[in-house]
Amino acid sequence: MCIALFLWQAHPLYPLLLLNNRDEYHNRPTKPMQWWEDSDIVGGRDEVAGGTWLACSREGRVACLTNVLELRSLPEAKSRGDLPVSFLKSGKHPKEFAESLKTEAHYYNGFNLIVADIGSKSMVYISNRPKGQPITIEEVTPGLHVLSNAKLDSPWHKAQLLEIGFKEQLAKYGEDEIPLKNLIQIMKDKTKAEESQLPHICSHDWELNLSSIFVEIETPLGLYGTRSSAALIVTSSEDVSFFEAYLDDGEWKEHVVDFHIQKLKLTKGHA
Ligand SMILES: *[C@@H]1O[C@H](CO)[C@@H](O)[C@H](O)[C@H]1NC(C)=O
Repeated sequence: MCIALFLWQAHPLYPLLLLNNRDEYHNRPTKPMQWWEDSDIVGGRDEVAGGTWLACSREGRVACLTNVLELRSLPEAKSRGDLPVSFLKSGKHPKEFAESLKTEAHYYNGFNLIVADIGSKSMVYISNRPKGQPITIEEVTPGLHVLSNAKLDSPWHKAQLLEIGFKEQLAKYGEDEIPLKNLIQIMKDKTKAEESQLPHICSHDWELNLSSIFVEIETPLGLYGTRSSAALIVTSSEDVSFFEAYLDDGEWKEHVVDFHIQKLKLTKGHA
């Protein structure tokens, strides 16, 4: 179901530091993080629908997606993984992109979408939940944020655990660089919530299984759970380091893509 934590415009070294776990069926065809052949986008790619859960463009635009935990989903819905791609390709300012989703957000199952443009220091949170209400569009304030499978900064157990783990690192390293391996380590936590801390939306067992930062579940359809842990780090000199630990045929592998942001020209509508 995915989980993310991000520190936005609140650290002297990093305008953005983002951690993400992607949870999915292990047998769903996926390409690990890399530059895409057809565009200036770097990220993992779902090979079934062609979308992504976390990606960045060479111009320093970032998009991250999580699903909203719901009992029922629309079988005919459009693929949520298209949303990050559509933002990265649009050239639109985050706010302007959010506005453009207003009329079509209901074609998707419940989503949380973070879209950011490093160059203009703008980050927007978009969600099409609660159902039946106008979509949520919120400018993300500088600071530390967590996103699980409910509204941004909802105090879900695993989101809080992730926040605590990250704050410990911040406290330890102060204004210095935080070692990558420490960041990835906190994404591997398998501590589950207690009964009273579950959101009580779906079955108890399923929620309990999903309640850790790192998820691993045996299901009748095969293994489901965390198959990619990423750290996307943008420095104040506009260098990006995109690290991913990912499952490849049952084996964990690691790789990193480093690049320098190329100055972007925003299209009209940027205030
Ligand atoms: C929860 O996880 C355990 C261990 O993987 C599995 O045996 C059980 O079937 C899971 N329950 C649900 C509802 O997914």
